[in-house]
Amino acid sequence: MTKDPTLHQRIAAASQAAGMVRDGMVIGYGTGRAAMSAMDALATRVRSGLRVLGIPTSVATATHAASLGLPLTDLETHPVLDLTIDGADEVDPARNIIKGGGAALFREKVLASASRRLVIVIDATKRVPRLGTTRAIPVEVLPFAVGSCTRLLAEIGGAAVRRLDLAGAPVVTDNGNHVLDVAFDAHRMADPRDLDEAMRAIPGVIITGLFWSFDPTVVVGTDTGVEVLGPPL
Ligand code: 5RP
Repeated sequence: MTKDPTLHQRIAAASQAAGMVRDGMVIGYGTGRAAMSAMDALATRVRSGLRVLGIPTSVATATHAASLGLPLTDLETHPVLDLTIDGADEVDPARNIIKGGGAALFREKVLASASRRLVIVIDATKRVPRLGTTRAIPVEVLPFAVGSCTRLLAEIGGAAVRRLDLAGAPVVTDNGNHVLDVAFDAHRMADPRDLDEAMRAIPGVIITGLFWSFDPTVVVGTDTGVEVLGPPL
């Protein structure tokens, strides 16, 4: 098995993020390796008596929470969360983010919007000088509209590729939709808010993986320790 060189960075950052949780909080649980590491660390605190309720951003995360014995709730019961802890695919110097590498962007954005604070856990490779450096933007799209969305995204400068699974079938999100990974040139990526709004204006686009409005606290694992960017908790 290939050793993951960022594993120790992610675990250290996730553990620090889990330490930001206080007794009685309602927590959003993100999707992916960093979010699951944070849940692992939180579960240790819960076994020692910390009381939290969580809302998962995906079926996979709900399954992980159940395996750890973390109690869950939902947005009907708790429409406002204290904190969401999630991972990211890219973070720029202004703490704008690309998410959705795990195709959970829709529920991730819903929970980030419903949370008083967003904590993002990353390893050092996720820090980029500008969004789009290492990957395209995930965009969740209604399956019926994939063709028209692809054409209309091209009109605003985006090259869209439908995400496929290992068998070559379209990836289907937990919401029953498809994901387009959409690449833009550096000029178009310079204003994430403007680009997000332009994409969301296309009928059939459900949500984009550009997170530009959340003022997150970013917890970065590095080889020399954990760095916290943005507002402290
Ligand atoms: C899922 C996400 C993940 O948070 C993102 O892909 C990072 O995952 P990982 O922590 O495994 O690198 O946005 O939709």
